[in-house]
Amino acid sequence: MEKIVSLCKRRGFIFPGSEIYGGLAGTWDYGPTGSLLKKNLKDLWWREMVQLRDDMVGVDAAIMMNPRAWEASGHTEAFVDPLVECKICHQRFRADNEEEIKNHERSHKDKKIEWTEPKKFNILVEAKLGVIEDQKSTIFLRGEITNGVQVNFKNVLDSTRVKIPFGIAQVGKAFRNEITPGNFTFRSREFEQMEVQYYIKPDEAEGQKWFDYWKKNRMDWYLSLGIKKENLRFRDHADDERAHYARLATDIEYSAPWGWNEFMGIHHRGDWDLRRHQEYSGVDMSYRDSQTGETFIPWDIETSAGVDRSLLFLLVDAYSEEDERVVLKLDKRLAPYKAAVFPLLANKPELVKLAREIYDDLSPRLMTAWDDRGNIGKRYYAQDEIGTPYCVTVDFDSLEDKKVTVRDRDTMKQERVAIGELASYLEKKLEK
Ligand code: GAP
Repeated sequence: MEKIVSLCKRRGFIFPGSEIYGGLAGTWDYGPTGSLLKKNLKDLWWREMVQLRDDMVGVDAAIMMNPRAWEASGHTEAFVDPLVECKICHQRFRADNEEEIKNHERSHKDKKIEWTEPKKFNILVEAKLGVIEDQKSTIFLRGEITNGVQVNFKNVLDSTRVKIPFGIAQVGKAFRNEITPGNFTFRSREFEQMEVQYYIKPDEAEGQKWFDYWKKNRMDWYLSLGIKKENLRFRDHADDERAHYARLATDIEYSAPWGWNEFMGIHHRGDWDLRRHQEYSGVDMSYRDSQTGETFIPWDIETSAGVDRSLLFLLVDAYSEEDERVVLKLDKRLAPYKAAVFPLLANKPELVKLAREIYDDLSPRLMTAWDDRGNIGKRYYAQDEIGTPYCVTVDFDSLEDKKVTVRDRDTMKQERVAIGELASYLEKKLEK
């Protein structure tokens, strides 16, 4: 894991949040490569979930919501972690995190530790809204992005042609007062989620059918992104660990460097959200089937994935050390840069000029990097470390034969390609 953290810092993927002020626990900033990777991941997810499906639409709801929405969804009451406190130093830990508790006990060496009984701690993050000091009202930053979708259920029904079964997709930030953020970005206090709320008829068989469908759909997606099969598994939640809203819950877990851990969740939320919002807002949340005339409150099968967590596991899975090099074997669709262009020598103006023309031609079509530092070996090394699938070198022969050398990240094989055909050659390769 240290290798991944160090690569992320060194190559501009992820930096500790507000680092120059000593950081802020549980926050992370994505750098030049990390922000591209994150965008590619979210775009790919959106394409699969919204663009390529006629049963799905998207929304982008506000982070700040009327606090009543959080009462309705049960979060003010039930979004809690059980905490125990060390009676020696008063540090608090999640009662269910045995490893951290043991580590802490070890840190006190020979002293005998006593712990308090577990106490419930609400993990919603509060904020103050308003301009007049004593009239500011307390609101919550969303603890999950789900609520913004549920409160817009009627708006979506009334403004589109969706018919059950259909889904509403959303990507956005969520905030949790995690007691022990850790394992790099795995558990953060500010993170992003990609979710689908898929509304179905309230029927047990339908519920099971769509729950199974989404489990398979999500597992297949991660496999299609190249995550190794042996590193993924399902884990069903036991009755006593399910969130307050869930009738059924399964995690997709990843075999992380610190052990199997939750990657994303598929939850059968039943009619929990819509019924509660109906109750608290007084707005009718039912759906009328125009063919049968039936009226009902739909059930919701949710898929909820952390963007940051997915990105972290994609990085871990893609990281490989081969002889002299470190290479990120990221799916090409995810790679921050698709190609890098180098003049063989930075002090030969004729090479730089031609390389620059090629870069200018490629960059409107593909995210392209430019590198003229150091020698060619160092540039390959740097591009391998950020997962760039193709490196294009302009050498002295290029001035004569109007061809460049294209080197493949995974095979390290090199090919001469005519400059005039380069963009379409790369685009074709990147499609695969
Ligand atoms: N809407 C349902 C929901 O939020 P969850 O299991 O609490 O369910 C879903 O969260 C996903 O969000 C997790 O599987 C994980 O990928 C991500 N996630 C949750 N808490 C996180 C945190 N503190 N840091 C990073 N990602 C987190």
